[in-house]
Amino acid sequence: MKLIFLGPPGAGKGTQSERMCADYGVVQLSTGDILRANRKAGTELGQKAQKFMDAGELVPDQIIIDMIKEELKKPELSKGYILDGFPRTVPQAQALDKLLEDMGQKLDTVLVLEVPNEELVKRLTARRVCRVCGKSYHLIFKPPLKEGICDQPCGGELYQRDDDKEGPIMNRLKVYEDQTFPLIDYYSSKNLANKIHGLGEIGDIYSRIKTVLDKF
Ligand code: AP5
Ligand code: MG
Repeated sequence: MKLIFLGPPGAGKGTQSERMCADYGVVQLSTGDILRANRKAGTELGQKAQKFMDAGELVPDQIIIDMIKEELKKPELSKGYILDGFPRTVPQAQALDKLLEDMGQKLDTVLVLEVPNEELVKRLTARRVCRVCGKSYHLIFKPPLKEGICDQPCGGELYQRDDDKEGPIMNRLKVYEDQTFPLIDYYSSKNLANKIHGLGEIGDIYSRIKTVLDKF
């Protein structure tokens, strides 16, 4: 199964991908996570991406396209993958079409997680992420068992992403509206878009996703 997971910042793409990977044996490819790992490792890519990410702006298309081209070659993706956070612009979507065509691959579906802005702000401002494994928590909706510490065996420290502060959040929401929202039409015209109502309990939203995925 090969799919794109589209949705605004804080919609729950990472949260739901975790369950999908466990149930369907696919790999999550989150461009945000890859960029953050590069920043942590101090690579040239990470350094180039830093100022855009902290301001809630998109990293330039060509940097992202070159990065995803390398990622898609990895053998662990042979069982299928979830593209989380990519594509985010029409030029990225067009580049992906070309890459997939060259590799003889086809997308099964594009999931579009729909959540109103007011709820996104609530989810993002109280998100905390593990410094070691990247698992995400919410101070109220999905708290860790022990305050400030990841529940996973890594026991990593939880931190707040720089772009989860109010200024960058507002910018990310605007960037989504302006640059990523048009992709819903792009994939609807290819009959690939499946809209998912993204409000409610995490498990209930996952059931809605499963109803769509079990068709593939
Ligand atoms: P990225 O890391 O992709 O961030 P994003 O798209 O803004 O999405 P998030 O990771 O913030 O949200 P999510 O949907 O995964 O939500 P989550 O599951 O964590 O990108 C970061 C930056 O990298 C970009 O701004 C850009 O600079 C750069 N970048 C990345 N890809 C790029 C690209 N293709 N092109 C250019 N630049 C790129 O959930 C959020 C919170 O809500 C959590 O606390 C969670 O516990 C909670 N939650 C989840 N579901 C529910 C629920 N049902 N009820 C209550 N709480 C919930
Ligand atoms: Mg995410």
